[in-house]
Amino acid sequence: MPSVSEHYERVLSPVYAWMAGGAEAALAAGRSEIDALSLALPSGALVVDLGAGFGMHSIPLARAGARVVAVDTSAHLLAELKRLAGELTVTTVQDDLLSFRAHLQEKAAAVFCMGDTLTHLPEHTNVDFLVQEVAEALAPAGHFVLSFRDYSEPLLEEQRFIPVRGDERRILTCFLEFEEDTVVVHDILHERGGDAWETRVSSYRKLRLSPDRVLGSLESFGFESRRENGLRGMVRLVAKLRA
Ligand SMILES: C[S@@+](CC[C@H](N)C(=O)[O-])C[C@H]1O[C@@H](n2cnc3c(N)ncnc32)[C@H](O)[C@@H]1O
Repeated sequence: MPSVSEHYERVLSPVYAWMAGGAEAALAAGRSEIDALSLALPSGALVVDLGAGFGMHSIPLARAGARVVAVDTSAHLLAELKRLAGELTVTTVQDDLLSFRAHLQEKAAAVFCMGDTLTHLPEHTNVDFLVQEVAEALAPAGHFVLSFRDYSEPLLEEQRFIPVRGDERRILTCFLEFEEDTVVVHDILHERGGDAWETRVSSYRKLRLSPDRVLGSLESFGFESRRENGLRGMVRLVAKLRA
């Protein structure tokens, strides 16, 4: 089975912005999500976006005055982010998000890990490692904001077929296969090339995370957290490092 980054290069990265409803609509949604958090970040605050993609949160954060470090493994998505960011203060880093601290020279005011990126980590233990790393990377009373899908209850039978998006030239469907601790995500992409449809299929594994498990990890590494409804059916956890 391809790794997460191979899967993104093979299928998802080139269509990710389209899949999210188009870059403009996604950036507007990212901005609303950030505004709703009311984090009151001071101008020039250092903010890290882990698994930043094309910048759905990095760009609105930079537009609001933050200095953003955007970490992602996908060269394609980071190039798109750079193009969308223009002159904004966003530093792109192509690396595994678990190594993000190597790219910081000072403590951060906030760390974001949004849009189901957390479930892309290879092992459940990586989640605890990441929470500990974020606690180390944050300034006192810094925030860690996460959003991810709750895969703790398996979807059954036809519920496992998810029509992600379709238009006259492209259709993306996802099929989920639940395992004990993980879920195999099969992405099926149909694209119109001239008179014919071309099909690409690729699969990768995600973690089945339960929000309670992530909340427990945040608690044990010194965060106080609240749980909210995120975008597109995701769970959002807003955690603040205890003083
Ligand atoms: C579901 S997308 C979310 C993108 C963005 N946060 C958003 O909300 O639109 C997951 C992103 O995480 C990246 N990613 C997955 N695993 C990663 C890892 N271990 N290190 C860095 N980036 C990773 C992917 O390349 C992809 O851009």
